[in-house]
Amino acid sequence: MNTFVYQSTPTRVIFGAGKLASLSEEIQRLGARRALILTTPEQRELGDHVARLLGERSAGVYPHAVMHVPLETAQAAREEAILREADCCVAVGGGSTIGLGKAIAMDSGLPILAVPTTYAGSEMTPIYGLTENRLKKTGRDPRVLPKTVIYDPELTLTLPTGLSACSGLNAMAHAIEALYAQDANPVISLMAEESIRALAQSLPKVMDDPYNVEARAQALQGAWLAGICLGSVGMAIHHKLCHTLGGTFNLPHAQAHAIVLPHAAHYNRRAAAEPLRRAARALGGQQADDVGPLLYDLNRRLGIPLALADIGFPDHGPAEAASIACASPYYNPRPFEQDAIESLLTRALKGQAPG
Ligand SMILES: NC(=O)c1ccc[n+]([C@@H]2O[C@H](COP(=O)([O-])OP(=O)(O)OC[C@H]3O[C@@H](n4cnc5c(N)ncnc54)[C@H](O)[C@@H]3O)[C@@H](O)[C@H]2O)c1
Repeated sequence: MNTFVYQSTPTRVIFGAGKLASLSEEIQRLGARRALILTTPEQRELGDHVARLLGERSAGVYPHAVMHVPLETAQAAREEAILREADCCVAVGGGSTIGLGKAIAMDSGLPILAVPTTYAGSEMTPIYGLTENRLKKTGRDPRVLPKTVIYDPELTLTLPTGLSACSGLNAMAHAIEALYAQDANPVISLMAEESIRALAQSLPKVMDDPYNVEARAQALQGAWLAGICLGSVGMAIHHKLCHTLGGTFNLPHAQAHAIVLPHAAHYNRRAAAEPLRRAARALGGQQADDVGPLLYDLNRRLGIPLALADIGFPDHGPAEAASIACASPYYNPRPFEQDAIESLLTRALKGQAPG
């Protein structure tokens, strides 16, 4: 297992089992004194542990992060940060908790130290999301990019296997789309390929033994690289479809990503043939010229649900989602074609292999 300190421009990255212990030192390094600790209600205990670890540097735990950062939650958290005289936020958790940290940072400029416990990758991006009146708005703002990220694989041991697999595929989606991004570049593509390889090798081991720290470390390293991909280059059809499934149909984030990815990759198989061959190589399919079936098989091996119907997508969903996606498409190597997208989503709805 690699243990290292990595400093890119501009996020400082500390990686290694047990590295949560360096949090206090990292707060000091930022010139901060009192950290408001953010968690979800489910991870409050971990927040309390962090507070004990920080001692005087803790401004207390705010355990109210929820999915998609509702505006009221963000406002209440901002007020809490002022009330407790916090001069930085420590976000311990997945994309929802880090998203709450970003909402505070956007308004107040407070620096964020992120301690990710899933593979979603938000910690490496300047992208924020806020939900008002059931509408989620996203945008980019350099102020919301965490200053410091501590990746401690030990904190991922408790991530349930089902969520680990889906969250890992959520990360892999960032890397796959980075390979054919409009602004793809050689460095990010190297990171993307390595991310896919790391996730493909480690996730089956995590499923066999969720307490295998080596496998958890490899998965988290893949997620880190995937997060850099997401923050650095533009995403394409896969992310557009998943935003629609999350925003309009309220489907769970990581699961929707995992189910749609084989179908989105298949959709782009000819338009992005060379980038997707790199993805296939990283997945271990040396000769494959269609990465879709490889991803579908991986999902099956990992026990990920294969059908969007199983996570709440309705029968009328494919037509509606295809039309929403086509109304404001992202860049994609193959143009958005409404009929083809509807048929892609219909196969995903039913859990059929891409084709
Ligand atoms: N802005 C970005 O760049 C970006 C990137 C990726 C995801 N996101 C956003 O993040 C959200 C999804 O994040 P997510 O998939 O990480 O899920 P999440 O943060 O919603 O976490 C899901 C559940 O798992 C729990 N959990 C997390 N880590 C755990 C662990 N190690 N052990 C036990 N339980 C744990 C959480 O407390 C929560 O109950 C979405 O709203 C998505 O839009 C944003």
